Amino acid sequence: MPDVKVNEPRLLLEGKVALITGAGGGIGSTTARIFAREGARLILSDVDRDLGEAIRKEIVDAGGEASFFAANVAKAEECEAMVAHAEESFGRLDIAFNNAGHIGVYQPFKDYPLSEYERIIDVNIRGTWNCLRAEIPLLLKNRGGAIVNMSSTAGIVGSAGAAPYVMAKHAITGLTKAVALDYVKDNIRVNAVLPGAVDTAMPRRLVGGDEAILAHAASMIPQGRFATAEEVGEMVAFLCSDRSGHTTGGLFLVDGGLTAA
Ligand SMILES: NC(=O)c1ccc[n+]([C@@H]2O[C@H](COP(=O)([O-])OP(=O)(O)OC[C@H]3O[C@@H](n4cnc5c(N)ncnc54)[C@H](O)[C@@H]3O)[C@@H](O)[C@H]2O)c1
Repeated sequence: MPDVKVNEPRLLLEGKVALITGAGGGIGSTTARIFAREGARLILSDVDRDLGEAIRKEIVDAGGEASFFAANVAKAEECEAMVAHAEESFGRLDIAFNNAGHIGVYQPFKDYPLSEYERIIDVNIRGTWNCLRAEIPLLLKNRGGAIVNMSSTAGIVGSAGAAPYVMAKHAITGLTKAVALDYVKDNIRVNAVLPGAVDTAMPRRLVGGDEAILAHAASMIPQGRFATAEEVGEMVAFLCSDRSGHTTGGLFLVDGGLTAA
């Protein structure tokens, strides 16, 4: 039994070096703020340099440690360079949040635009694969670490009009389980987070900003609302911390009861 210590301040990610992809977006930037608050040193990456630089500056201005590296996760060589940058900047890597993603458009399967299909596969499936391939060797060198892959409830249930996204997020849940087992004896934990609908630019873009559609979507969630990006980021921070030490190959819902109904 641990000794009882009351009111002892303890940061969740004290001293850890953490990489976040898609760090300029809604969930990525919010998770970066939570990681910084919890004592992590950050490598922030995004294909969008302006968005990524903005969150790096915000964290550094607030007294945190953060470096930005522009990378398209669909390109293996850019993911390798991103991880090399992490090692050069901080000498190690403890945590990776493979969060970059692309949702595409809503269209029935036979009409789905092929260019959007290709991009969804490239960013979500190839992107997560490329990140893992680049990160695992450095984590092995460091003798352990924690990875969280960004999936979605679309990684365990279907969604009409979103076949490529559903396929891609299912691939990420499968990849998470398989890679977790490959490295379970190497002190590397690999989990996935599965949000339902989160209040970021992504769902707004998908429905062209139509508030009525967003309100209807929220009404379909048992909690009656979208998740906040903070609620997703807090789950990711826990899964990346030593407090979830016996957790690997797991799929963690942040969906307000959506898939329980
Ligand atoms: N918002 C939701 O409702 C929701 C629900 C479930 C899962 N997700 C997933 O969460 C993740 C983040 O989504 P968000 O809501 O923050 O969206 P967002 O659009 O705000 O952020 C996505 C970020 O990913 C970056 N990105 C896109 N393509 C990239 C590439 N090829 N390489 C590197 N970076 C790239 C974008 O520049 C952007 O900064 C995505 O994987 C998404 O599928 C979102």
